[in-house]
Amino acid sequence: MEGNILEIKTLKNYYELSSTVADIVEYQIQEEPLSRLVLPTGSTPLGLYEELVNRDLDWSSVMTYNLDVYIMNPNHPQSYQTFMKENLFNRINIYPSNCNFPDRNVQVYEERLKGTPIDLCILGIGSNGHIAFNEPGTSFDSRTQVVDLSEQTIQDNSRFFDSIDDVPTQAITMGLGTIMESKKIVLMANGQHKLNILNIAMNGDVTEEIPASILQTHKNVEVYYSD
Ligand code: PGA
Repeated sequence: MEGNILEIKTLKNYYELSSTVADIVEYQIQEEPLSRLVLPTGSTPLGLYEELVNRDLDWSSVMTYNLDVYIMNPNHPQSYQTFMKENLFNRINIYPSNCNFPDRNVQVYEERLKGTPIDLCILGIGSNGHIAFNEPGTSFDSRTQVVDLSEQTIQDNSRFFDSIDDVPTQAITMGLGTIMESKKIVLMANGQHKLNILNIAMNGDVTEEIPASILQTHKNVEVYYSD
């Protein structure tokens, strides 16, 4: 599949990365108070969420859709529902009923997303090139689905758990086809350990072995990196 090489904009440090992407979110919400946003979890967006909490933004008409969740008790301290509440939702004036998470009824999530085109989707990238929990080998046409996590992802995410055995092995993720329907996509990556995979995904072949490479075929993508 043919794609366009994506420019990786390198920022001075993690703060600049967070505030640059916060500017994009702020602009989006100010231009369109009824914005539909897709949001990520993980360590990369922590600074972004801190920055957004400290800005005077009206979230009262914003709808959010999370990229993925572990299959685990949503009240668990390491669930992505808890992560979003602690880092963003409980600290801004968003309505809890406007905060959507994938659940096992994947069709319902797809229908909700289809009814409301996504204005802005923020992504991180995994060390194996995954976006959301779409692991290498996932079809570029995939929709929201239940997935098994790769060994690499379980290893990478074990830092958040007491032991690797506590890391969930399954998740529900928006599909690559679903993500690609967003009007605008911003990919954030922080740390030198992400640089190699970022270069491969943005400048190399468009292949299902590197899920993030599909972004080369999207018309409105920005990629930001800090080391
Ligand atoms: P990280 O995860 O932000 O914790 O590095 C990114 C990802 O796996 O998508």
